[in-house]
Amino acid sequence: MALNKQEAWGSRVGLILAMAGNAVGLGNFLRFPAQAIQNGGGAFIIPYLTCFLLMGLPLLYVEWAMGRYGGKSGQHSAPFMFNAMDKRFFWKYLGVFGIFTNLAIAAYYCYIESWALSWAYHSVAGHFMGKTQGEVTAFFNSYIGLGTVEPVVFWILCLLLNTWILSKGLKGGVELAAKIGMPLLLLFGVVLAVRGVTLTAGEQGAVYDGVLGLNYLWQPTFSSIWDPVVWRNAAGQIFFTLSLGMGSIHCYASYVKSRDDIALNAMSAGWMNEFVEVVLGSAIIIPIAVGYLGVDKVIEMTKGGSGFGIGFMTLPFLFTQWGATLSAISGFMWFGLLFFAGITSSLAMGTPCMGFLKDNFGWARGKAARTFGFAVLLLGIPCVLSQEAFNEFDYWVGTISLVVFAIAEVILFAWVFGMEKGWKEITDGADIAVPVVFKHIIKYVTPVFLLVVFFGSLPEIWATLTKKITPYVLFARILLAGLFAGIARLVYVAHRKRGAV
Ligand code: PHE
Repeated sequence: MALNKQEAWGSRVGLILAMAGNAVGLGNFLRFPAQAIQNGGGAFIIPYLTCFLLMGLPLLYVEWAMGRYGGKSGQHSAPFMFNAMDKRFFWKYLGVFGIFTNLAIAAYYCYIESWALSWAYHSVAGHFMGKTQGEVTAFFNSYIGLGTVEPVVFWILCLLLNTWILSKGLKGGVELAAKIGMPLLLLFGVVLAVRGVTLTAGEQGAVYDGVLGLNYLWQPTFSSIWDPVVWRNAAGQIFFTLSLGMGSIHCYASYVKSRDDIALNAMSAGWMNEFVEVVLGSAIIIPIAVGYLGVDKVIEMTKGGSGFGIGFMTLPFLFTQWGATLSAISGFMWFGLLFFAGITSSLAMGTPCMGFLKDNFGWARGKAARTFGFAVLLLGIPCVLSQEAFNEFDYWVGTISLVVFAIAEVILFAWVFGMEKGWKEITDGADIAVPVVFKHIIKYVTPVFLLVVFFGSLPEIWATLTKKITPYVLFARILLAGLFAGIARLVYVAHRKRGAV
């Protein structure tokens, strides 16, 4: 059995940047603006911020605390972290979600990440110059329709890069990537945001001021605040953007030393994510697109709530209005930013899986990293081939399974492990005073909130399950179910093995 050198974070700044890099992702720059626009702009922000306070912050505390607690007994993945908190057999199987979700999200996430890499290259090479909006759209459609081999090349390149960084370990790989990627991302983000909000009507074809887009987003409207769908989407965005209910925060936190602070760290990384999301994420694509196209057109273009249309089809065209040089620079910054945001998140998706293999089967980190890369490649094939499979993955893992996992963890933490012990775990070694109100929020408010969100989604889940489906959708579902069962089987084997020693 290969012995692993004990992994650890190199520095506190490195840990916070890695955690922020985990959270800050494509969700902040593409999904958030699209969700905000689709859910009524100013009407979205109130549910969004409420979800952040009542669900996001408490779950951050819980996940960091569970992670550090698991790390104390050498557990770096959710199944055996859950098991460390309560020995009943089913917890570790609920913990399977904490590996499953990461793998399945990585399957489609890394593909989009590779688009960003490719678009950065095309921007610098000036390939969008002189193209009409229709031509840029056609380029995108042909790309995702696999009109050439290019998407596959960039995708594999991207997977190799992820695998390589992961194989360098936490300090020499993940942390270093965050230390390089995050400052650049912030720099690019600030430059583009300043450009976005200072865009003036009548210049280079802009019809409206950039500020118009910001107004749409930030003017509170109360019209749709009673709409349960808006709340569901706000909760979904908080989950996705903070990487909650996935198991990746647990994994990063499990490498923190047992007496080190987690309370302030959790807040630093969490609030940094919110800054990047609500300040930078909302100040780039919305004002620029609204500046040229107007609010109504932008609402129409973000249907579906993913932001791919504006991010990959409209922006590269609009950048070309600024002339060849500025267009290359802006394209490089925008897609570079997306790429850094993406890769520091996909690395986080790899670590729980690697931790599980290392802890339980004694695998060396290179082998574990390669296994992750290969699994993502296999799982990604249907997503690359079919938009339907892609959406199916995103629905089940990017929307539903996170909530199931979060319900399990908060009940385990507050009610089974016990809130008194849990509170000690959160505040132990803390460099800030955590307001006591969170103790009650974690125990009562967050679980109720999550259960309401979950039960509220049941009719929709039922409708999805009973809808007539195509073979691709069926295949995607079988694959996901098989993946879950496979990981559960490995957990079973690992458990038996532990019992035998
Ligand atoms: N939080 C990331 C984003 O906003 C996504 C993510 C999912 C990261 C799962 C890690 C694990 O894009």
